[in-house]
Amino acid sequence: MPALPLIIDTDTGSDDAVALLLAAASGLGDIRAVTTVAGNVPVAVAARNALISLETAGRTDIPVHLGCDGPMLREASGAPEVHGADGMGDTGLPDPSTAPRDGHAVEALLSYPRRHPGELTLVTLAPLTNIAAALLLDPELFTRYRHVYCMAGAADLVGNVSPTAEFNVWADPEAARIVTRAASADKVTWIGWDVSRKDAVMTPVDQQRLVELGTPMATFTHRINRTVADFARNVTGLAGYDLPDPIAMAVALDPALITEQEQAHVQISVADETRGQLIIDRRVSAPAPNLTLVRRVAEAGFKKLLFDTVAAPAS
Ligand code: RIB
Ligand code: CA
Repeated sequence: MPALPLIIDTDTGSDDAVALLLAAASGLGDIRAVTTVAGNVPVAVAARNALISLETAGRTDIPVHLGCDGPMLREASGAPEVHGADGMGDTGLPDPSTAPRDGHAVEALLSYPRRHPGELTLVTLAPLTNIAAALLLDPELFTRYRHVYCMAGAADLVGNVSPTAEFNVWADPEAARIVTRAASADKVTWIGWDVSRKDAVMTPVDQQRLVELGTPMATFTHRINRTVADFARNVTGLAGYDLPDPIAMAVALDPALITEQEQAHVQISVADETRGQLIIDRRVSAPAPNLTLVRRVAEAGFKKLLFDTVAAPAS
């Protein structure tokens, strides 16, 4: 099967980095461009971390474009308590050998599918600010992509950044609202934090397996996620660090990994207490579904893809 042509939008924290490894080195993805946005870290740091991650996967040729450095209306929020101040577990990684390209990320999100109509799959791993900005300029944007996969939301209302909201939607709920209003369930699929905390938790046994593999990508994966391991232990209570962006990327690369999904009409709360919460209307009288929501993924299949990818020797 030919590799999937991809555009990836990311706020490159430690889990985004592993998703970039999957896209670049699994053999299933063909990354045409990466766009960065503020979220876990400021947009320039997201670009630095994306370049480092791609270089770790043996790729220094992929264009990386900087995008919006803050939400549409709200103050930028980082996530140092989750990913470390540098977004990569404060591991002191050396600078990448390449630099971001000229051209704003939003322009790239608009121009690439115009040049390759219906060919590109967009995978978003971050607050949806760049995507919303692109939609304001081109309301038909989603029709120009083959499909759009977003790591976004928590369909079971169990949040990570708040009691009921997931970070990417919480960080810029107005952007998420623009995205859901433009979406149709046949074109836009969301993989939420509910999937990650059920089917993408790296247990101590998984973490030890990365250490024992000892390859550059396995060691990189283990080291940069050490802060997330602490966050899981002290805040979310998971059995290890979870990998929301990598499992979303795995779904985009191999949709056969999906074991449960639903289509529903979803709105986004922008109210204070419920900021970023999904309002899912499953009533018979609900409007037509605007999203496909993945609810479960085959954990064994996801972890096989992950370990097979990072097991590769230095490129
Ligand atoms: O809630 C998880 C999401 O927020 C992931 O994309 C993680 O990188 C952070 O951006
Ligand atoms: Ca992310």
